[in-house]
Amino acid sequence: MDVVRVNVSKPYDVLIGRGILDSVGERLREVSEPCRCAVITDDIVSELYKERVVQSLEASGFSAVSFVFQNGEQSKTLATFGKALEFLAEQKLSRTDLVVALGGGVVGDLAGFVSSVYLRGVRFIQIPTTLLAAVDSSVGGKTAVDLAAGKNLAGAFYQPELVLCDPDTLSTLPAEFIADGMAEVIKYGMIYDKELFSFVAGGANSDMYERIIRRCVEIKAHFVENDERDNGIRQLLNFGHTAGHAIEKCSNMTITHGNAVAIGMAIVAKACAAMGIAEQSLPSELISCLRNNNLPVECEFTAQELAAAALSDKKRRGGSISVVVVRAVGDSFLKPIRCEETADFFKQGMGEESV
Ligand SMILES: NC(=O)c1ccc[n+]([C@@H]2O[C@H](COP(=O)([O-])OP(=O)(O)OC[C@H]3O[C@@H](n4cnc5c(N)ncnc54)[C@H](O)[C@@H]3O)[C@@H](O)[C@H]2O)c1
Ligand SMILES: [Zn+2]
Repeated sequence: MDVVRVNVSKPYDVLIGRGILDSVGERLREVSEPCRCAVITDDIVSELYKERVVQSLEASGFSAVSFVFQNGEQSKTLATFGKALEFLAEQKLSRTDLVVALGGGVVGDLAGFVSSVYLRGVRFIQIPTTLLAAVDSSVGGKTAVDLAAGKNLAGAFYQPELVLCDPDTLSTLPAEFIADGMAEVIKYGMIYDKELFSFVAGGANSDMYERIIRRCVEIKAHFVENDERDNGIRQLLNFGHTAGHAIEKCSNMTITHGNAVAIGMAIVAKACAAMGIAEQSLPSELISCLRNNNLPVECEFTAQELAAAALSDKKRRGGSISVVVVRAVGDSFLKPIRCEETADFFKQGMGEESV
């Protein structure tokens, strides 16, 4: 089993190991006395994995109740958030009890936000079951729900007590969602780790997931430890996300997060090359890596549409937005772009020429 320590204001461990789902109770006993657990999950994950988790919790002296909501980004709303809070209150979950977020990024973001608010904060643990949640959303303490105006517009920084990641759960994850997770993996490679990028450039397979997860969690921990509240270096993790969030929004959330980020990264890499910021070979390197991992590199929206959506996003700071640009694989920095130049910037990355 791999252990990655995340040294933030309240340090915690990320444990990565095959079969760890059956020892959730034992692992939790290392950080908590027996108490009541509210397992928050979605309908698909509930069907697949909830019983094993509940059994393991009960075998270690915890008791468990569960709140199950419909899977998908469409559930990451204030409505589901409210229902989950009411559920915890009905169940009389107390301040010394625990929330268990079992699922992908939607479950983790929502359950984490619920935990940050219920009784002004109850402890929670993350059990990621998608590649995206394992490599990214379960670590770092960003929690949120979407508002009509955009993604993740209401949320909190709230760190888990523990993250338990069982790579075996990925065996049931449909290929399209594996691809979503790979978009974030490729992001880490692009901004920080050429070796990781090369490792996945030809396409990842299930034998590689454990190593990929460990490396990505290490990188995420590095950024989060240095900038827990996302005011500086952590923003590099947003590579492809300004355009990506705009694409998600323009598609009415029908394009998934990972797919949107993949397209967003391709747009920014092409724009950087066109503007002479990046090596000329960067877009083709990235695009071939994305394609080899079954990810899209284009969308049907115009630069104007994306800019309009991006400018209503929370990353706007005064008269400019911060965009992560990459010089070469593994080498990135933040570049402020004036609001009125955003459409032009995207346009440079959306040329017709194929790379
Ligand atoms: N907090 C952060 O730092 C952060 C970072 C990146 C992304 N996110 C958020 O994460 C969300 C996307 O997460 P996601 O891609 O995990 O989506 P998701 O949680 O919707 O999961 C994708 C689908 O896979 C199903 N599923 C989950 N685990 C499964 C398994 N093991 N086997 C079979 N099916 C399974 C789910 O039911 C769902 O239908 C977005 O809302 C995004 O904004 C947050
Ligand atoms: Zn992301």
